[in-house]
Amino acid sequence: MDMDQLKRQAAARALEEVRDGMQLGLGTGSTAKHFVELLGERVRAGLKVIGVPTSEATRADAVRCGVPLTTLDEIDHLDITVDGADEVDHELNLIKGGGGALLREKIVAAASDRMIVIADDSKWVATLGRFPLPVEVIPFGLGATRRAIEKAFAQSGVSGQMALRKAKDGHVFVTDGGHWILDAHLGRIEDPARLAVALSAIPGVVEHGLFIGLAGSAVLAGGEGIRVIE
Ligand code: 5RP
Repeated sequence: MDMDQLKRQAAARALEEVRDGMQLGLGTGSTAKHFVELLGERVRAGLKVIGVPTSEATRADAVRCGVPLTTLDEIDHLDITVDGADEVDHELNLIKGGGGALLREKIVAAASDRMIVIADDSKWVATLGRFPLPVEVIPFGLGATRRAIEKAFAQSGVSGQMALRKAKDGHVFVTDGGHWILDAHLGRIEDPARLAVALSAIPGVVEHGLFIGLAGSAVLAGGEGIRVIE
């Protein structure tokens, strides 16, 4: 079975948790896209749900699939957010933001009663950090922000190179919020909670891709079948 089929299986398993009347956070990325497509099939068959997309790409997918949308200004909470991840550790801490949507993804996850991560099991890791950690920054004062991030890395016991993310056309990648992303190649993050606190304290950092204590469960699809970790 190829990776894409595994992603779709994980999405289908998460869909079993969705009930009529639920308000859902809709994640971003290729796995979350499967969830939106499968949800759209259920909506067209009569399921009543409403979703908040975590990116403009997901908004477009949801509209295409017929999933009704709302905003966090119009509703006061979400029942479940279903989203992908770049890495998941054994405590369900995550690295997210490979698709550049980490800021909205974190706002939506934090507004949800429950976050379900869906992924193929290659995302399951003993220690976070092999996937480059995205740090979303304000373009103004980038040099100062970068130095402050390096200091936070040193204080948190990690080190590595940072690269400003580029889009496919070679221009700097701009997030839905109009910010830039520094991808930090750290290798291993022994204490992700400590690093998360240090990064959040830097003025030019809008958000970072460490999701600590936000995920309630992970649905991991692999060659051996599906595992649900809670
Ligand atoms: C986007 C994300 C994605 O959830 C993450 O990159 C996983 O993507 P995919 O499902 O395509 O592997 O965090 O910002």
